[in-house]
Amino acid sequence: MEFIDKIKARAAQNLKTIVLPEGTEERTLKAADKITQEGFAKVVLIGNPDQIHHLADEYYLKNLGDVQIVDPQNNPKKEAYIELMLKLRAAKGLTREDAEKQLLDPLYLGAIMVKAGDVDGEVSGAMNATGNVLRPAFQYVRTMPGISVVSGAFIMFFKDTLFGENGMMVFADCAVNPNPTAEELAQIAVMTGRTTRAIAGFEPRIAMLSFSTKGSAKNELVDKVVSATLLAQQMDPTLQIDGELQADAAIIPGIGAQKAPGSKIAGRANVLVFPNLEVGNIAYKLVQRMAHAEAIGPILQGMAAPINDLSRGCSVDDIVSLVAITSCQAAGL
Ligand code: ACO
Repeated sequence: MEFIDKIKARAAQNLKTIVLPEGTEERTLKAADKITQEGFAKVVLIGNPDQIHHLADEYYLKNLGDVQIVDPQNNPKKEAYIELMLKLRAAKGLTREDAEKQLLDPLYLGAIMVKAGDVDGEVSGAMNATGNVLRPAFQYVRTMPGISVVSGAFIMFFKDTLFGENGMMVFADCAVNPNPTAEELAQIAVMTGRTTRAIAGFEPRIAMLSFSTKGSAKNELVDKVVSATLLAQQMDPTLQIDGELQADAAIIPGIGAQKAPGSKIAGRANVLVFPNLEVGNIAYKLVQRMAHAEAIGPILQGMAAPINDLSRGCSVDDIVSLVAITSCQAAGL
């Protein structure tokens, strides 16, 4: 896909190191081999080195010879990591024994390696549920300054180029926060605008979606979106944000002009911010299946360092693409 080729080219200009905690998983190993061959990022694998080498031979992978492997059972940095973990979470009740146990879990070890600055980012989730990938990241890597919630954006590619930015749109939050407050929704909008600029590569026009357009319905759910819109506009005045808008008013020019006259976003939105996770997750999946849109993500945004989560149904190429995106996030590209 042309979009991913561009992302890889950008990543290659500023090589970053991405840890893959599921180092003994077949698709992950094949992806690591491909990334190393293509050379747009460095990868570090977590797992038993003998097992990884054995599997690499079994899958005829030729590029993993020099790849760094970190063995959770024999980790030379164990003591330094335990100190770091205790510094960060002893006040939350973490004991030395807890920390030792967590370091045996590749997902925790990967997050600590990111926090320690030994790698620039992490991609995992090929065989772990979203919550298990996110929890260590939330606990140790935490959010960037000024942001309290991590959220997940999808870049959507539509066959119909009339939508969004020549058929590209960004949807959020489709992955993390079940029921954000107005303040959290505002952060999600702002972070999605920044992800759009940095990764999707176009100037965002952000619609805050609801079942009401500009006061057409009165409900506390609508009030939340109205407040979030104001807060988001204040948080980052460089972003074009409008709401509350219904989906048709956001993306269809004629309906936007009729329902929200004067709005610079209505009818022209290329970023859709959903009021909660039920709507966001269902909407992206319906659009992906019924409109045959391609969905890249979730791209996690708002973390202090990039950690991204794969779908368990991912392909080798999905992992390769997400490593490229994570590298660009790490490089601040
Ligand atoms: N951003 C940043 N930090 C967070 C967030 C967030 N969105 N949510 C929770 N945290 C932090 C908390 O502050 C807490 O930190 P602390 O331990 O330092 O106090 C820590 O994470 C754990 O918080 P809990 O409230 O205990 O969170 P829990 O672990 O129960 O749940 C989780 C977090 C797993 C992300 C939950 O929100 C969740 O399951 N979300 C839905 C994920 C999902 O299933 N998505 C749909 C599938 S993905 C897809 O289809 C693409």
